[in-house]
Amino acid sequence: MKKDILRLSSLTKGEMDRIFEEASELKRRQRENVVWKPLSGKTLALIFEKPSTRTRVSFEVAMYQLGGHSLFLSPKDMQLDRGESIADTARVLSRYVDGIVIRAFSQKLAEELAEFASIPVINGLTDLLHPCQILNDIFTIIEKKGRYRGIKIAYVGDGNNVANSWAEAASRLDFHLSLACPPGYLPDEDIIRASKRESPCPIEVMVDPFQAVKSADIITTDSWVSMGKEDEYEKRMMIFEGYQVNERLVAEAKNDVLVMHCLPAHRGKEITDQIIDGRHSIVFDQAENRLHVQKAILEMWLGGKVHS
Ligand code: CP
Ligand code: NVA
Repeated sequence: MKKDILRLSSLTKGEMDRIFEEASELKRRQRENVVWKPLSGKTLALIFEKPSTRTRVSFEVAMYQLGGHSLFLSPKDMQLDRGESIADTARVLSRYVDGIVIRAFSQKLAEELAEFASIPVINGLTDLLHPCQILNDIFTIIEKKGRYRGIKIAYVGDGNNVANSWAEAASRLDFHLSLACPPGYLPDEDIIRASKRESPCPIEVMVDPFQAVKSADIITTDSWVSMGKEDEYEKRMMIFEGYQVNERLVAEAKNDVLVMHCLPAHRGKEITDQIIDGRHSIVFDQAENRLHVQKAILEMWLGGKVHS
């Protein structure tokens, strides 16, 4: 049976730990110029309804480095745009390629694609979730702090896809998660409820960013205006004003706190130049790791090392 990555709550702690170990090994091999092409002859299709820099480039380069091939497919250039169903698209692509990464507005669409595909489907971001990003972020934390266990992570800002995936990760792994979001912009209620029920460590949702970052080892944030929310820009700028990651906020966390951002950053909005370019920031190491973590995912999922 094929296995998808549509959300982190469908992965076990063991699977996530294996991804982190494999990513570390693949990163080491790349640094040492070891040629490693386990996906020779395999093809990955990328269907992206929304723009992307990191996710698209890192998946395409990952396939190339592992000896495989990738196809970038814009839905506008496919028969999907003329009414072919996602189910039929899934059935047909399954006859040609070995895996699909989908970036879509609707999580339901990604789930439907996976339901009718006989090959692994990987969520490259939906309005609800961004699982590959959070696997990457936890891998980066392990690299920098030596572990995720017992680490306090404070997410400050919009209760969006990134925040929801943080909660799902916390439902499997033993780190402490505090999410600070303005009222009306909290993470998905069902995801928080389910994650709290299953989590080995505290998951807290609050409105005060200063309370959330108290004794934090990691502060992370994301855009206040996710893709698809552009018409709410002005309103959101006012609502999120107090949620900026700046020197005053970072000073409330541990002295050795690390600051993360999935990028793209909106400098001067959710994060200041001083912080993103300052001594606490690890955002570009974090961005680099998308390549290594996704190589691990592709090797395991397309290379037949994972079974449901
Ligand atoms: N962080 C992230 O997913 O970036 P892109 O939108 O550039 O892929
Ligand atoms: N929450 C952001 C993440 C971008 C990588 C968005 O959905 O636009």
